[in-house]
Amino acid sequence: MSACDMTARTVLVTGAASGIGLACARLLLADNANVVAMDLQAERMASEFARSGDRLVRFAGDFSRPEDCAGAVAAAIERFGALDAVTHWGAAHSSARWDELDADECNRTMAVNVTGTFLIAQAAARHMVARRRGAIVLCTSTSVSFGVTGGRGQGGPAYVASKGAVIALTRSFARAFGPCGVRVNAVSPGITETPMIGGYTEEQRSEMVKRFPLGRFGTPEEVASAGIFLISDRASFITGEILQVNGGSNFV
Ligand SMILES: NC(=O)c1ccc[n+]([C@@H]2O[C@H](COP(=O)([O-])OP(=O)(O)OC[C@H]3O[C@@H](n4cnc5c(N)ncnc54)[C@H](O)[C@@H]3O)[C@@H](O)[C@H]2O)c1
Repeated sequence: MSACDMTARTVLVTGAASGIGLACARLLLADNANVVAMDLQAERMASEFARSGDRLVRFAGDFSRPEDCAGAVAAAIERFGALDAVTHWGAAHSSARWDELDADECNRTMAVNVTGTFLIAQAAARHMVARRRGAIVLCTSTSVSFGVTGGRGQGGPAYVASKGAVIALTRSFARAFGPCGVRVNAVSPGITETPMIGGYTEEQRSEMVKRFPLGRFGTPEEVASAGIFLISDRASFITGEILQVNGGSNFV
């Protein structure tokens, strides 16, 4: 048995085609979970999960659309009988600075990162609350505490505001769903080696890594592991919590 036994648990993983979501889906499959992998990028999922076997369902969809969220939850129930947990990693990035950001980009970022987070949690909770069990992990960002300003690949005001809203949603959901046996937490990653930080220059990277007492950025697996812990029974008395996974970079 692994530290977090996921055998026969069914987990919906969003953002599963790339970065932390992809690492999470792979770790869960290795831990014998059933996985519904959701992402906009159907082809990328098809190639990443080409040999993943019958414990994986690929669901190409957009979690900012309520019908796709309901469809992903229904796919889990149809194939595996129930949905035990959601790890919601998918998000849109926005690097525009305050003087470049327009209403369209701001609204798009909010629609994906705030409304989308609400919708995926709502769709899962409709099922979980009726079963009186379940766990949901959302994803915020260390950039909320820094107040990053954008430019050259870094999160700007739309991104950081959307990730701040995820903290508020985590606490609101934890209070609403807790009496029904459903836990809700968030992981707050620091800089993690995924395509999302592909816009950083070498100069930026060597400047930013100085903030990390561990002397490096995180790996997608290290962040995903924290999410898996939070949906596991090892975290059975944790709800409404924001777990920092950032190599100590938020207190330097
Ligand atoms: N990488 C970092 O340094 C970092 C730091 C802090 C927080 N985060 C957060 O970690 C999470 C994972 O980020 P990542 O670095 O793995 O990013 P990534 O860009 O590698 O992957 C994000 C995935 O989400 C998918 N996606 C985006 N919008 C979608 C939608 N509407 N419906 C379905 N899928 C959608 C994308 O197609 C992509 O596959 C995000 O919530 C991000 O904000 C990342």
